[in-house]
Amino acid sequence: MADFPFADRLATLPPYLFAAIDKAKAAVKARGVDIISLGIGDPDMPTPDFIIEALHEAAKKPANHQYPSYIGMLSFREAVAEWYGKRFGVELAPQNEVLTLIGSKEGIAHFPIAFINPGDLALVCTPNYPVYNIAVNFAGGQVEFVPLTDANDFLPDLDAISEESWQRAKMIFVNYPNNPTAATATPEFYKKLIARARETNTIIVNDAAYTEMYFDEQDKPCSILEFEGAKDVAIEFHSLSKTFNMTGWRIGMAVGNPSLVQGLGKVKENVDSGAFQAVQEAGIAALSKGTPYVAEFRKIYRERRDSVCAALSKVGIEHRVPKASVFVWAKVPQGKTSTSFCTEVLEKTGVVVTPGNGFGAPGEGFFRISLTVPSDRLEEAVSRIAAL
Ligand code: MLT
Repeated sequence: MADFPFADRLATLPPYLFAAIDKAKAAVKARGVDIISLGIGDPDMPTPDFIIEALHEAAKKPANHQYPSYIGMLSFREAVAEWYGKRFGVELAPQNEVLTLIGSKEGIAHFPIAFINPGDLALVCTPNYPVYNIAVNFAGGQVEFVPLTDANDFLPDLDAISEESWQRAKMIFVNYPNNPTAATATPEFYKKLIARARETNTIIVNDAAYTEMYFDEQDKPCSILEFEGAKDVAIEFHSLSKTFNMTGWRIGMAVGNPSLVQGLGKVKENVDSGAFQAVQEAGIAALSKGTPYVAEFRKIYRERRDSVCAALSKVGIEHRVPKASVFVWAKVPQGKTSTSFCTEVLEKTGVVVTPGNGFGAPGEGFFRISLTVPSDRLEEAVSRIAAL
Protein backbone atom coordinates (compact mmCIF):
# COMPACT_ATOMS: atom_id res chain seq x y z
CA MET A 1 0.00 0.00 0.00
CA ALA A 2 1.33 3.47 -0.86
CA ASP A 3 2.44 5.56 2.10
CA PHE A 4 1.57 9.17 1.35
CA PRO A 5 3.66 11.76 3.15
CA PHE A 6 1.69 14.41 5.01
CA ALA A 7 1.84 18.01 3.87
CA ASP A 8 4.63 19.96 5.59
CA ARG A 9 2.19 21.85 7.80
CA LEU A 10 1.04 18.54 9.25
CA ALA A 11 4.30 16.65 9.12
CA THR A 12 5.99 19.25 11.32
CA LEU A 13 3.10 19.46 13.78
CA PRO A 14 3.52 17.55 17.06
CA PRO A 15 0.60 15.29 18.07
CA TYR A 16 -2.37 17.30 19.39
CA LEU A 17 -1.78 17.71 23.13
CA PHE A 18 -4.99 16.10 24.35
CA ALA A 19 -4.82 13.25 21.85
CA ALA A 20 -1.28 12.49 23.05
CA ILE A 21 -2.48 12.51 26.66
CA ASP A 22 -5.35 10.14 25.80
CA LYS A 23 -2.87 7.77 24.19
CA ALA A 24 -0.51 7.78 27.18
CA LYS A 25 -3.47 7.30 29.53
CA ALA A 26 -4.82 4.36 27.51
CA ALA A 27 -1.44 2.63 27.65
CA VAL A 28 -1.33 2.83 31.46
CA LYS A 29 -5.00 1.88 31.79
CA ALA A 30 -4.35 -1.23 29.72
CA ARG A 31 -2.08 -2.41 32.53
CA GLY A 32 -5.14 -2.43 34.82
CA VAL A 33 -4.17 0.76 36.70
CA ASP A 34 -6.96 2.78 38.35
CA ILE A 35 -6.60 6.00 36.37
CA ILE A 36 -7.64 9.37 37.74
CA SER A 37 -7.81 11.68 34.78
CA LEU A 38 -7.21 15.35 35.52
CA GLY A 39 -5.78 15.92 32.07
CA ILE A 40 -8.57 17.65 30.16
CA GLY A 41 -11.18 20.27 31.01
CA ASP A 42 -14.09 18.03 30.18
CA PRO A 43 -16.91 18.46 32.73
CA ASP A 44 -17.86 15.17 34.39
CA MET A 45 -21.25 16.41 35.59
CA PRO A 46 -24.10 15.52 33.24
CA THR A 47 -25.91 17.97 31.00
CA PRO A 48 -29.08 19.02 32.88
CA ASP A 49 -32.16 16.96 32.04
CA PHE A 50 -34.21 19.86 30.69
CA ILE A 51 -31.61 20.37 27.97
CA ILE A 52 -31.66 16.68 27.06
CA GLU A 53 -35.46 16.79 26.92
CA ALA A 54 -35.31 19.84 24.65
CA LEU A 55 -32.99 17.89 22.34
CA HIS A 56 -35.36 14.93 22.38
CA GLU A 57 -38.31 17.08 21.33
CA ALA A 58 -36.28 18.95 18.73
CA ALA A 59 -34.91 15.73 17.24
CA LYS A 60 -38.48 14.57 16.51
CA LYS A 61 -39.10 17.49 14.13
CA PRO A 62 -38.48 16.51 10.51
CA ALA A 63 -37.44 20.08 9.65
CA ASN A 64 -34.48 19.61 11.96
CA HIS A 65 -33.32 16.57 9.99
CA GLN A 66 -32.40 18.68 6.99
CA TYR A 67 -29.33 20.80 6.45
CA PRO A 68 -29.18 23.51 9.06
CA SER A 69 -28.66 27.15 8.21
CA TYR A 70 -24.95 27.92 7.71
CA ILE A 71 -24.88 30.81 10.14
CA GLY A 72 -27.15 29.14 12.67
CA MET A 73 -30.85 29.40 13.43
CA LEU A 74 -31.99 32.95 14.03
CA SER A 75 -33.70 31.73 17.22
CA PHE A 76 -30.38 30.36 18.56
CA ARG A 77 -28.57 33.59 17.67
CA GLU A 78 -31.35 35.55 19.39
CA ALA A 79 -30.95 33.39 22.50
CA VAL A 80 -27.19 34.09 22.47
CA ALA A 81 -27.84 37.82 22.15
CA GLU A 82 -30.32 37.71 25.02
CA TRP A 83 -27.90 35.74 27.21
CA TYR A 84 -25.08 38.19 26.47
CA GLY A 85 -27.41 41.04 27.33
CA LYS A 86 -28.41 39.56 30.66
CA ARG A 87 -25.03 38.20 31.66
CA PHE A 88 -22.68 40.92 30.42
CA GLY A 89 -24.94 43.86 29.59
CA VAL A 90 -23.65 43.59 26.00
CA GLU A 91 -26.01 44.34 23.12
CA LEU A 92 -25.61 42.11 20.08
CA ALA A 93 -27.50 42.16 16.80
CA PRO A 94 -28.46 38.51 16.19
CA GLN A 95 -28.54 39.16 12.43
CA ASN A 96 -24.87 40.00 11.95
CA GLU A 97 -23.03 39.99 15.26
CA VAL A 98 -23.67 36.38 16.28
CA LEU A 99 -22.66 33.18 14.52
CA THR A 100 -23.46 29.63 15.61
CA LEU A 101 -20.45 27.33 15.84
CA ILE A 102 -19.98 23.58 16.01
CA GLY A 103 -18.17 24.18 19.28
CA SER A 104 -15.80 27.11 19.77
CA LYS A 105 -12.73 25.04 18.82
CA GLU A 106 -14.11 24.77 15.30
CA GLY A 107 -14.70 28.53 15.08
CA ILE A 108 -11.27 29.41 16.47
CA ALA A 109 -9.60 26.99 14.07
CA HIS A 110 -11.36 28.46 11.06
CA PHE A 111 -11.11 32.13 11.99
CA PRO A 112 -7.54 32.83 10.78
CA ILE A 113 -8.43 31.51 7.32
CA ALA A 114 -10.73 34.50 6.95
CA PHE A 115 -8.21 37.20 7.85
CA ILE A 116 -4.66 35.86 7.60
CA ASN A 117 -2.83 35.96 4.29
CA PRO A 118 0.27 33.80 3.86
CA GLY A 119 3.12 35.39 5.83
CA ASP A 120 0.86 37.58 8.00
CA LEU A 121 1.69 37.80 11.68
CA ALA A 122 -0.50 36.79 14.61
CA LEU A 123 0.35 37.39 18.27
CA VAL A 124 -0.50 34.48 20.54
CA CYS A 125 -0.34 34.87 24.31
CA THR A 126 1.22 31.73 25.67
CA PRO A 127 0.98 29.23 27.44
CA ASN A 128 -2.15 28.79 25.38
CA TYR A 129 -4.85 26.50 24.08
CA PRO A 130 -2.85 24.94 21.21
CA VAL A 131 -5.51 25.57 18.58
CA TYR A 132 -4.62 29.31 18.32
CA ASN A 133 -1.14 28.90 16.87
CA ILE A 134 -2.02 25.76 14.92
CA ALA A 135 -4.89 27.59 13.21
CA VAL A 136 -2.64 30.51 12.26
CA ASN A 137 -0.06 28.13 10.82
CA PHE A 138 -2.72 26.22 8.89
CA ALA A 139 -3.78 29.55 7.36
CA GLY A 140 -0.18 30.18 6.28
CA GLY A 141 0.48 32.85 8.89
CA GLN A 142 3.38 33.35 11.27
CA VAL A 143 3.08 33.35 15.04
CA GLU A 144 4.85 35.56 17.53
CA PHE A 145 4.34 34.21 21.02
CA VAL A 146 3.75 36.70 23.82
CA PRO A 147 4.75 35.15 27.15
CA LEU A 148 2.41 35.01 30.11
CA THR A 149 4.42 34.84 33.29
CA ASP A 150 3.80 34.37 36.98
CA ALA A 151 5.43 37.76 37.61
CA ASN A 152 2.79 39.43 35.40
CA ASP A 153 -0.16 37.50 36.83
CA PHE A 154 -0.26 35.65 33.51
CA LEU A 155 -1.40 38.77 31.66
CA PRO A 156 0.62 39.77 28.59
CA ASP A 157 2.89 42.78 28.92
CA LEU A 158 1.42 44.75 26.04
CA ASP A 159 4.20 47.34 26.22
CA ALA A 160 6.83 44.65 25.74
CA ILE A 161 5.46 43.78 22.29
CA SER A 162 7.53 45.75 19.79
CA GLU A 163 5.96 48.55 17.80
CA GLU A 164 6.91 46.67 14.64
CA SER A 165 5.01 43.58 15.80
CA TRP A 166 1.96 45.62 16.72
CA GLN A 167 2.01 47.26 13.30
CA ARG A 168 2.49 43.95 11.49
CA ALA A 169 0.12 41.80 13.53
CA LYS A 170 -3.24 41.04 11.96
CA MET A 171 -4.59 39.61 15.19
CA ILE A 172 -3.84 38.89 18.82
CA PHE A 173 -5.24 35.88 20.68
CA VAL A 174 -6.16 36.32 24.32
CA ASN A 175 -8.08 34.04 26.64
CA TYR A 176 -9.51 34.90 30.05
CA PRO A 177 -10.32 33.16 32.34
CA ASN A 178 -7.17 31.59 31.04
CA ASN A 179 -6.57 28.05 29.98
CA PRO A 180 -4.19 26.70 31.25
CA THR A 181 -3.08 29.18 33.96
CA ALA A 182 -6.57 29.98 35.34
CA ALA A 183 -5.63 33.68 35.45
CA THR A 184 -8.37 36.26 35.09
CA ALA A 185 -8.20 39.61 33.32
CA THR A 186 -8.86 42.99 34.87
CA PRO A 187 -11.00 45.68 33.22
CA GLU A 188 -7.83 47.83 32.97
CA PHE A 189 -6.16 45.11 30.94
CA TYR A 190 -9.06 44.87 28.50
CA LYS A 191 -9.23 48.65 28.14
CA LYS A 192 -5.52 48.92 27.39
CA LEU A 193 -5.67 46.02 24.94
CA ILE A 194 -8.61 47.53 23.08
CA ALA A 195 -6.90 50.93 22.88
CA ARG A 196 -3.70 49.38 21.49
CA ALA A 197 -5.60 47.23 19.01
CA ARG A 198 -7.59 50.21 17.77
CA GLU A 199 -4.41 52.26 17.30
CA THR A 200 -2.73 49.52 15.33
CA ASN A 201 -5.77 48.04 13.57
CA THR A 202 -5.19 44.63 15.17
CA ILE A 203 -8.02 42.14 15.52
CA ILE A 204 -8.56 40.88 19.08
CA VAL A 205 -9.60 37.25 19.26
CA ASN A 206 -10.87 36.66 22.78
CA ASP A 207 -11.60 33.11 23.87
CA ALA A 208 -14.09 33.44 26.71
CA ALA A 209 -15.12 29.79 27.15
CA TYR A 210 -14.63 29.80 30.93
CA THR A 211 -16.39 33.01 32.00
CA GLU A 212 -19.11 31.13 33.89
CA MET A 213 -16.74 28.96 35.95
CA TYR A 214 -15.93 31.54 38.63
CA PHE A 215 -15.92 30.92 42.34
CA ASP A 216 -16.92 34.20 43.98
CA GLU A 217 -19.38 36.84 42.89
CA GLN A 218 -16.77 39.63 43.15
CA ASP A 219 -14.52 37.75 40.70
CA LYS A 220 -17.18 37.38 38.02
CA PRO A 221 -15.26 37.49 34.71
CA CYS A 222 -16.06 40.05 32.00
CA SER A 223 -16.68 39.74 28.30
CA ILE A 224 -14.29 41.93 26.34
CA LEU A 225 -17.36 43.33 24.60
CA GLU A 226 -18.34 45.10 27.82
CA PHE A 227 -15.65 47.69 27.15
CA GLU A 228 -15.95 50.75 24.96
CA GLY A 229 -14.59 50.33 21.47
CA ALA A 230 -14.32 46.53 21.71
CA LYS A 231 -16.76 45.95 18.91
CA ASP A 232 -14.51 47.97 16.59
CA VAL A 233 -11.78 45.34 16.80
CA ALA A 234 -12.85 42.22 18.69
CA ILE A 235 -14.46 38.88 18.12
CA GLU A 236 -15.24 36.74 21.14
CA PHE A 237 -15.58 32.98 21.12
CA HIS A 238 -17.86 31.36 23.66
CA SER A 239 -19.32 27.97 24.12
CA LEU A 240 -21.99 26.00 25.90
CA SER A 241 -19.45 23.25 26.57
CA LYS A 242 -18.10 24.19 29.97
CA THR A 243 -21.03 26.35 31.10
CA PHE A 244 -23.73 23.69 30.71
CA ASN A 245 -21.60 20.50 30.70
CA MET A 246 -22.09 20.07 26.96
CA THR A 247 -18.61 19.41 25.55
CA GLY A 248 -19.76 16.46 23.44
CA TRP A 249 -22.70 18.35 21.95
CA ARG A 250 -20.47 20.68 19.92
CA ILE A 251 -22.27 23.98 20.18
CA GLY A 252 -20.75 27.42 20.60
CA MET A 253 -20.87 30.94 19.25
CA ALA A 254 -18.74 33.75 17.86
CA VAL A 255 -19.90 37.28 18.65
CA GLY A 256 -18.70 40.83 18.15
CA ASN A 257 -17.52 42.95 15.25
CA PRO A 258 -19.86 42.22 12.32
CA SER A 259 -17.16 42.02 9.65
CA LEU A 260 -15.15 39.55 11.76
CA VAL A 261 -18.25 37.45 12.44
CA GLN A 262 -19.19 37.52 8.77
CA GLY A 263 -15.67 36.63 7.61
CA LEU A 264 -15.75 33.55 9.77
CA GLY A 265 -19.27 32.83 8.51
CA LYS A 266 -18.00 32.89 4.94
CA VAL A 267 -15.28 30.34 5.73
CA LYS A 268 -17.77 28.10 7.50
CA GLU A 269 -20.29 28.32 4.68
CA ASN A 270 -17.62 26.79 2.47
CA VAL A 271 -16.34 24.09 4.78
CA ASP A 272 -19.21 22.91 6.97
CA SER A 273 -22.96 22.70 6.86
CA GLY A 274 -23.88 24.17 10.22
CA ALA A 275 -24.74 22.79 13.65
CA PHE A 276 -27.53 20.19 13.97
CA GLN A 277 -30.69 22.25 14.55
CA ALA A 278 -31.91 19.98 17.33
CA VAL A 279 -28.70 20.75 19.22
CA GLN A 280 -29.27 24.47 18.62
CA GLU A 281 -32.79 24.17 20.02
CA ALA A 282 -31.39 22.41 23.08
CA GLY A 283 -28.85 25.24 23.26
CA ILE A 284 -31.69 27.78 23.31
CA ALA A 285 -33.15 25.93 26.32
CA ALA A 286 -29.75 25.97 28.03
CA LEU A 287 -29.16 29.67 27.44
CA SER A 288 -32.64 30.75 28.45
CA LYS A 289 -33.25 28.49 31.47
CA GLY A 290 -29.84 27.18 32.51
CA THR A 291 -28.54 29.95 34.79
CA PRO A 292 -29.70 28.40 38.12
CA TYR A 293 -28.06 25.10 37.17
CA VAL A 294 -24.77 26.83 36.40
CA ALA A 295 -24.84 28.32 39.91
CA GLU A 296 -24.95 24.75 41.25
CA PHE A 297 -22.04 23.60 39.06
CA ARG A 298 -20.06 26.58 40.27
CA LYS A 299 -20.55 25.54 43.90
CA ILE A 300 -19.28 22.06 43.09
CA TYR A 301 -16.22 23.40 41.26
CA ARG A 302 -15.55 25.71 44.17
CA GLU A 303 -15.57 22.79 46.64
CA ARG A 304 -13.24 20.90 44.34
CA ARG A 305 -10.93 23.87 43.97
CA ASP A 306 -10.81 24.30 47.74
CA SER A 307 -10.11 20.65 48.40
CA VAL A 308 -7.42 20.30 45.74
CA CYS A 309 -5.69 23.56 46.74
CA ALA A 310 -5.73 22.54 50.40
CA ALA A 311 -4.27 19.14 49.49
CA LEU A 312 -1.56 20.75 47.32
CA SER A 313 -0.63 23.21 50.08
CA LYS A 314 -0.38 20.38 52.56
CA VAL A 315 2.23 18.63 50.47
CA GLY A 316 4.07 21.84 49.56
CA ILE A 317 3.20 22.01 45.86
CA GLU A 318 3.22 25.69 44.89
CA HIS A 319 0.16 26.90 43.07
CA ARG A 320 -2.18 29.87 42.72
CA VAL A 321 -5.69 29.54 44.06
CA PRO A 322 -7.74 30.17 40.92
CA LYS A 323 -10.59 32.67 40.85
CA ALA A 324 -12.12 31.09 37.75
CA SER A 325 -11.84 28.34 35.10
CA VAL A 326 -11.83 24.62 35.88
CA PHE A 327 -8.05 24.43 36.30
CA VAL A 328 -5.36 24.70 38.92
CA TRP A 329 -1.92 25.69 37.61
CA ALA A 330 0.83 24.36 39.83
CA LYS A 331 4.63 24.26 39.87
CA VAL A 332 6.42 20.98 39.33
CA PRO A 333 8.77 20.02 42.16
CA GLN A 334 12.38 21.21 41.93
CA GLY A 335 14.64 19.19 39.73
CA LYS A 336 11.83 18.01 37.44
CA THR A 337 10.60 19.27 34.10
CA SER A 338 6.93 19.45 33.21
CA THR A 339 7.27 16.38 31.00
CA SER A 340 9.38 14.29 33.38
CA PHE A 341 7.07 15.07 36.28
CA CYS A 342 3.78 14.39 34.47
CA THR A 343 5.15 11.19 32.89
CA GLU A 344 6.36 9.93 36.26
CA VAL A 345 3.05 10.81 37.92
CA LEU A 346 1.11 8.92 35.27
CA GLU A 347 3.41 5.91 35.19
CA LYS A 348 3.73 5.52 38.95
CA THR A 349 0.39 6.75 40.29
CA GLY A 350 -2.12 6.48 37.44
CA VAL A 351 -2.95 10.19 37.78
CA VAL A 352 -3.16 12.13 34.54
CA VAL A 353 -2.12 15.79 34.77
CA THR A 354 -1.16 18.01 31.85
CA PRO A 355 2.44 19.17 31.40
CA GLY A 356 2.60 22.96 31.29
CA ASN A 357 5.03 22.98 28.37
CA GLY A 358 2.36 21.26 26.24
CA PHE A 359 0.73 24.72 26.13
CA GLY A 360 3.93 26.47 25.02
CA ALA A 361 7.46 27.11 26.24
CA PRO A 362 6.56 29.50 29.11
CA GLY A 363 4.48 26.66 30.58
CA GLU A 364 7.68 24.75 31.37
CA GLY A 365 8.00 24.12 35.11
CA PHE A 366 4.22 23.92 35.59
CA PHE A 367 1.51 21.32 35.39
CA ARG A 368 -2.25 21.69 35.07
CA ILE A 369 -4.89 19.94 37.13
CA SER A 370 -8.41 19.84 35.80
CA LEU A 371 -11.20 20.01 38.40
CA THR A 372 -13.44 17.72 36.42
CA VAL A 373 -13.59 14.76 38.81
CA PRO A 374 -15.32 14.59 42.21
CA SER A 375 -13.51 15.94 45.32
CA ASP A 376 -12.72 12.52 46.79
CA ARG A 377 -10.94 11.49 43.58
CA LEU A 378 -9.13 14.83 43.44
CA GLU A 379 -7.90 14.35 47.01
CA GLU A 380 -6.93 10.78 46.23
CA ALA A 381 -5.00 12.03 43.17
CA VAL A 382 -3.08 14.60 45.21
CA SER A 383 -2.31 12.07 47.93
CA ARG A 384 -0.97 9.63 45.32
CA ILE A 385 1.24 12.43 43.95
CA ALA A 386 2.35 13.30 47.49
CA ALA A 387 3.27 9.68 48.19
CA LEU A 388 5.37 9.65 45.04
C1 MLT B 1 -8.64 21.68 27.83
O1 MLT B 1 -8.54 20.76 28.62
O2 MLT B 1 -7.73 22.51 27.65
C2 MLT B 1 -9.91 21.83 27.04
O3 MLT B 1 -10.90 21.05 27.57
C3 MLT B 1 -9.71 21.45 25.64
C4 MLT B 1 -10.84 21.94 24.81
O4 MLT B 1 -11.67 22.73 25.25
O5 MLT B 1 -10.87 21.54 23.64
